[in-house]
Amino acid sequence: MTGRGRAIVLIGFMGSGKSSTGRALARKTGWPRFDTDESVSKRFGRDIAEIFSAFGEEKFRDAETEALRELSGVAPSIIVTGGGIVLRPENVELLRRLGTLVHLEADEETLFQRVSRRTTRPLLQTEDPRGTLAKLLREREPIYREAADFKVDTSRLTHEEVAEAVLRSMESL
Ligand code: S3P
Repeated sequence: MTGRGRAIVLIGFMGSGKSSTGRALARKTGWPRFDTDESVSKRFGRDIAEIFSAFGEEKFRDAETEALRELSGVAPSIIVTGGGIVLRPENVELLRRLGTLVHLEADEETLFQRVSRRTTRPLLQTEDPRGTLAKLLREREPIYREAADFKVDTSRLTHEEVAEAVLRSMESL
């Protein structure tokens, strides 16, 4: 496929609201939703934390790229990605072919509050999760910014409001 596809692709840091916004967008549009974390999990038959501990981050990243290659942007859809998917330039290229890239962002405090509700994120299981989050965020922020077609700050919005903001911005593209 050449050019840009018709998917709405959600990128952004862990806790930015990609999964919940993806569900809200799928409900509102009636379009199918694909989630790369879910695809990778299904492929291994294990949850993300188990994949990281049994096979390591590289194997997880390889599976993430494979999951992207299987997607098509021919029909409209909602694509939800894992926070680290943009680390491989090849993935950003694949995502851009699929459709419009929306960067969901939130301030550091909000992200930390949200991710602290769960212990399912292997990269944040360190002695200093807050410091790790801040470091990863600093490293990744410019990559999200560079890759995205537009961004939505989710810090003070409900998932429904974020979905509405995304759809409004899509209309004015
Ligand atoms: C990751 C984010 C996670 C998941 C994995 C790695 C990352 O997805 O893909 O734990 O590198 O930021 P969420 O962004 O949905 O938490």
